[in-house]
Amino acid sequence: MRTVHSLKELRAILRGYRQQEKTIGLVPTMGNLHEGHISLVRKAAEAADIVVTSIFVNPLQFGANEDLDTYPRTLLEDQDKLRAAGNTLVFAPSAEEIYPDGLARHTRIIVPEVSEGHCGACRPGHFEGVATVVAVLFNMIQPDCAVFGEKDFQQLAVIRKMAKDLLIPVEVIGAPTIREDDGLAKSSRNSYLSEEERAIAPVIYRVLKATSAEIAGGREDFEVLAQEAENSLRDAGLRVDYFNIANSQTLKPAVPEDREVTLLAAAFLGTTRLIDNISVSR
Ligand code: PAF
Repeated sequence: MRTVHSLKELRAILRGYRQQEKTIGLVPTMGNLHEGHISLVRKAAEAADIVVTSIFVNPLQFGANEDLDTYPRTLLEDQDKLRAAGNTLVFAPSAEEIYPDGLARHTRIIVPEVSEGHCGACRPGHFEGVATVVAVLFNMIQPDCAVFGEKDFQQLAVIRKMAKDLLIPVEVIGAPTIREDDGLAKSSRNSYLSEEERAIAPVIYRVLKATSAEIAGGREDFEVLAQEAENSLRDAGLRVDYFNIANSQTLKPAVPEDREVTLLAAAFLGTTRLIDNISVSR
C-alpha cells in the first residue's frame, strides 16, 4: 500500500491503473480511522478493483468554535489499519494541495434544500465545506464509485445531490452504520468522551430505536414524538441540538403520507457533539 501527498504523484499512479482498465473506488475520510471507516474500505473493495482512501482534515467544514485544531491526526495508525483492510492507496494531501489559493479564495459549492435543516441549520457553512472538498476529491481522483457512511445521513444526501446536479460520473454508495455492542454509533469523536459520558452515550440509539418502533407501530404525530424523544435525551443529561423526523429523500419534516422516514438526532455530551439516525419504512 502506498501513501502519496501530491496530486501529481496521485494522478501518475492512477493513470497506470486506468491503463490496466482497473476501476477505482474512493473512501473520503478525515483520518482517525475506526471500524466504521474500515467497513467503507471493504465495501469499496467489493465495488472496485483499486481502493483509494483520502485522509484530509478539511478546515472548510469546521465552524469557528469547533474542534479543527484538536481533531486527532493519526496517519501512522491509520496506514496500518488500511493496509490490513486491503486498501491500495492512501491520499493524504496538505491544505495547499486542496486549496492552492487559500480557503477564502476557493470556489465553494452550495447544495440547496437537503443541506439546509438538521446539521445544516446548527453548523452554518458545514455542508458547503463538505460539498466543496468532496467535489475537489472527485475531480482529483475521478473514481468510478465513492463510499460514505449512512451515519452521516444528511452528508450522504448532500453528496448524492451534488454529484447528480453537477453530472459528476461517480456512483455514490452508502454503507450501514457500524455500532459498538451497546448501540453507540462508531465515530472518531467518541474518543473525546469521558468514562461517565461514554456510559450515557448509547441513550441516543436507544431513543432513536424506541421512537422508530412507535412509528412502525402506526404513530404519525411526528412533532409530538420528536419532542418526547428530545425530552428523553435531555433527562439523560444531553444537550440536544435537534431530534427531527424527516422524509428520507427530501429531509423535509415528515408528513403522514411519507412511506420512508428518517429520525435524525444530534446532541452534546459535555463538549462532544454526537449524531445518529435511523430510517423506518411505514
Ligand atoms: O465524513 C467525513 O469524514 C468528512 O465529512 C468527509 C466526507 C471526508 C469530507 O471531509
